[in-house]
Amino acid sequence: MAKGSRRLALGMLLLPLVYAAVLRLNVSPVQLGRFQLHRRGPASLSIWSDDAAGGGLEHARMIMRRLVRGRARSELSWNRVACITSDSESDFCITSDSVRIVAGPSRSATVYLTAGQKLPGGAANFTLQPYPRKTDSLAMARTAPIHIISGAATPSCDVVHTSPAVVFSTGGFAGNFFHDINDVLIPVFLTAGRLRPSNLVVVDYEDYWVSKYRRVLTHLAGGGDAAIVVASSPSSPVEPRVHCFPAAVVGLKYHDNLACNATVPPGGVTIRDFRRFIHESLSLPSDPLGTAAGERPLLVFLSRRKSRALLNEGDVVDMAREVGFNVEVVTPEMMRDVEAFARLVATASVLGGMHGAGMTNMVFLRMGAVLLQVVPWGLDWAAKAYYGRPAVAMGLEYVEYRVAVEESTLSDYYPPEHPVLADPWSIHRQGYNVSGPIYTDGQNVRLDLARFKGTLLETMHRIPRRPS
Ligand SMILES: *[C@@H]1O[C@H](CO)[C@@H](O)[C@H](O)[C@H]1NC(C)=O
Ligand SMILES: *[C@@H]1O[C@H](CO)[C@@H](O)[C@H](O)[C@H]1NC(C)=O
Ligand SMILES: *[C@@H]1O[C@H](CO)[C@@H](O)[C@H](O)[C@H]1NC(C)=O
Repeated sequence: MAKGSRRLALGMLLLPLVYAAVLRLNVSPVQLGRFQLHRRGPASLSIWSDDAAGGGLEHARMIMRRLVRGRARSELSWNRVACITSDSESDFCITSDSVRIVAGPSRSATVYLTAGQKLPGGAANFTLQPYPRKTDSLAMARTAPIHIISGAATPSCDVVHTSPAVVFSTGGFAGNFFHDINDVLIPVFLTAGRLRPSNLVVVDYEDYWVSKYRRVLTHLAGGGDAAIVVASSPSSPVEPRVHCFPAAVVGLKYHDNLACNATVPPGGVTIRDFRRFIHESLSLPSDPLGTAAGERPLLVFLSRRKSRALLNEGDVVDMAREVGFNVEVVTPEMMRDVEAFARLVATASVLGGMHGAGMTNMVFLRMGAVLLQVVPWGLDWAAKAYYGRPAVAMGLEYVEYRVAVEESTLSDYYPPEHPVLADPWSIHRQGYNVSGPIYTDGQNVRLDLARFKGTLLETMHRIPRRPS
């Protein structure tokens, strides 16, 4: 994954800040109780409320209030708008009253508050970037600003929508599969998941991106008059139009790497709910995995070419077959059709491969399946933080194979006592512009077949068996 190590370095620096922000939320158990999901049954996704689906605007407003707590929630009641800038990765504003959003050729979008809502500090113009990577200047350079304007003369409506708007960007790092899921789809799920129906208003719109995830997005928007509205685009012409909505969330809630934290707003949402949601969106099988005795379990093996390539992939695949797997090797090109690839992964017992964005496909695995991650030299922390911990939180089995220094091509370029081999942390501390080209982009791996065989046998052992 391209940005892993940068996140790693930043993450370590920001961790205390994140904790401070999180602790200030001051969650009480009483609040938590009220935000629990209503589930009809294990297989049905009913994170949405039935009333909201019936179009109850009051209900939608109540759901929106749950996105904030404490002072911000009081502000939302008094001023009918609250803006949160204290979250570690995202800024967002919520208004429970009407807005007009100007779509058009301009890179930025403008949101007019049209019911006398008062911005924080009586400001007339509040700007935010609706992509949850606010500490990353590269991501922000690729994200359009949104200006929220209070108390100005407002243009008249060209299109009147009856459900709330959820405004976000598909700029930033969208286009990389990890970031598509982590920075966009999970945050949209956290923000809009219970608000159905809502209108997903996209800035930095790219046709290929929205087409790729159309089924997931339309499922999130949830029918009725709900739709995907293009507010701005760097690549396609956007017709100038004023869209009117009864309420809006501008920007997205964000929790953590491939994570939904049930104890922070919206409250009670877990990554398992997201997994269930994405399986439902793509009509993937929802029953837990079970492999009958004697059946060869399917190992979907992600092949990398450009960086972190497995140099003896052919031998590794032969050995996996010997151990008893039915192996399907997939290239990045084969992953472009998300829906087709998701269907393949959903039939697999194991998703395996080198640390990288492809690991994110674990969201398509069935409960009880195994994620097998090969961790290149110096990337242990990133491997755990980005994929290892989320896999466990999702209810998957997780097996990790850490390459030894002699299995990495870095040992061809550096003497054993060099800090790159002897002390990776001393390199990570110098920042991603130093460590990224070495560990993330600068090594390939040749696995020790005898040692990896042990990991394959352990993986086999972890696959749940169906009683015969
Ligand atoms: C709001 O502020 C931005 C700069 O921060 C500016 O570009 C934009 O024109 C302003 N909008 C209005 C309506 O004042
Ligand atoms: C979820 O957030 C709470 C703070 O509200 C924090 O204490 C906890 O560590 C977080 N959980 C995870 C798994 O990060
Ligand atoms: C890496 O980036 C930092 C700032 O983020 C800068 O101070 C440093 O000089 C850069 N190092 C290299 C080798 O470019």
